[in-house]
Amino acid sequence: MDKVNVGLIGFGTVGTGVVRVIKENAGIIKDRLGAELVIKRIADKDLTRDRGINLDEGVLTGDAREVIRDPDISIVIELVGGTGAARDFIMESLSAGKHVVTANKALLSMYGKDIFEKARKAGLDVGFEASVGGGIPIIKALREGLVANRIDSIYGIINGTSNYILSKMTNEGGKFEDVLRRAQEKGYAEADPSYDVEGTDTAHKLAILINLAYGTYIRLQDIYTEGITRISQLDIKFAREFGYRIKLLAIAKAVDGTVEARIHPTMVPATHPLATVDGVYNAIHLRGNAVGSVMFYGLGAGMMPTASAVVADLVDICRNLKQKTAGRIPPLSCTEDSVRDINIKDINSLEIPYYLRFLAIDKPGALSKISGVLGAHNISISSVIQKDRKIGGAVPLVIVTHNAVERELRSAIAEIEKLDIILDKVVYIRIEENLDAAN
Ligand code: HSE
Repeated sequence: MDKVNVGLIGFGTVGTGVVRVIKENAGIIKDRLGAELVIKRIADKDLTRDRGINLDEGVLTGDAREVIRDPDISIVIELVGGTGAARDFIMESLSAGKHVVTANKALLSMYGKDIFEKARKAGLDVGFEASVGGGIPIIKALREGLVANRIDSIYGIINGTSNYILSKMTNEGGKFEDVLRRAQEKGYAEADPSYDVEGTDTAHKLAILINLAYGTYIRLQDIYTEGITRISQLDIKFAREFGYRIKLLAIAKAVDGTVEARIHPTMVPATHPLATVDGVYNAIHLRGNAVGSVMFYGLGAGMMPTASAVVADLVDICRNLKQKTAGRIPPLSCTEDSVRDINIKDINSLEIPYYLRFLAIDKPGALSKISGVLGAHNISISSVIQKDRKIGGAVPLVIVTHNAVERELRSAIAEIEKLDIILDKVVYIRIEENLDAAN
């Protein structure tokens, strides 16, 4: 085998990166693989845009089926995105006996089971390293490097857009809306940013990580998902005073036979490595029961980092082709008959510390009314800050609690919001204190 023909569907930013990596690193790849990777056909709707790459005559087509049906192509790369045509292209490629490489987290988080089962029955591989963390090899780490471990916890900063906005708000100030607008002007955030800032993209990626870590197919609706749109400068500043940074964390934690699966703005100790992950960078912090804590850091998106992951999958599949094997590493790491449903912990049963911010009238007895309600719900206070003195006026009053049960916390907040000294909705942010603790 001196060359492997590959087909590409979707010649956008990442597709262009894939062709560039294969061309620019052709010698290195040949040395490591012992064969040449050849992009034989590329399909895209846009046949005219200049991508800065010279392609041979006849490589580019407007018809994805020409790629899928080409008998000389062994591997199809799907970089169309979305869950419509992309799903058809992958299923048809598998039906045509092609191995598949995809970066499509939305598709895998919703239809991974169908895709992986079809691939298994056909004796084909599906590579999806680029679906989580861009260039960070987290899929390979979970399926191979950490295969000996029980995964106790995963904390991920896995949406670059949200992390960029939160970092800018933390380091330079500004309101969420203004920082988002500037990010859009610079091209760091999409024109429709809701997918990123509402936590949807993070949920797709967390679903894939949970599936690998716990050998399951979690439903997206079972992941509690909150984005960053309600984070204010005031909370960022108070977080700093308490020694925390606010990050949008994707969290999976195995606790007493259940798995916590949640995404929300989280206060993390400013001294923890995750707190220092700024800008568009991603990081995934894992705790395995044998290895302890490990953290992966790198660019979670972009042309060349994502292409790095796609081409790594191509090389893996080609190495299997050379050995005339496939399916050596099951998609979820565990064998098919070990895949099982898991118990997802209800967010109401969560028991962690909370940050609470009240807009309260500054008068004697205000704090005792609030603490009275908290006490009645078994919520113990760890510290309190009231910054300004505005007798008879409204001031922010901030409380950090010890571990509290979320159900009780929500009930207490509902009661507190009815008090005559409270002038606005109560803000609460979850705190993760011991990210390195063994379960
Ligand atoms: N939109 C994603 C992010 C990149 O902002 O991280 C693609 O997964």
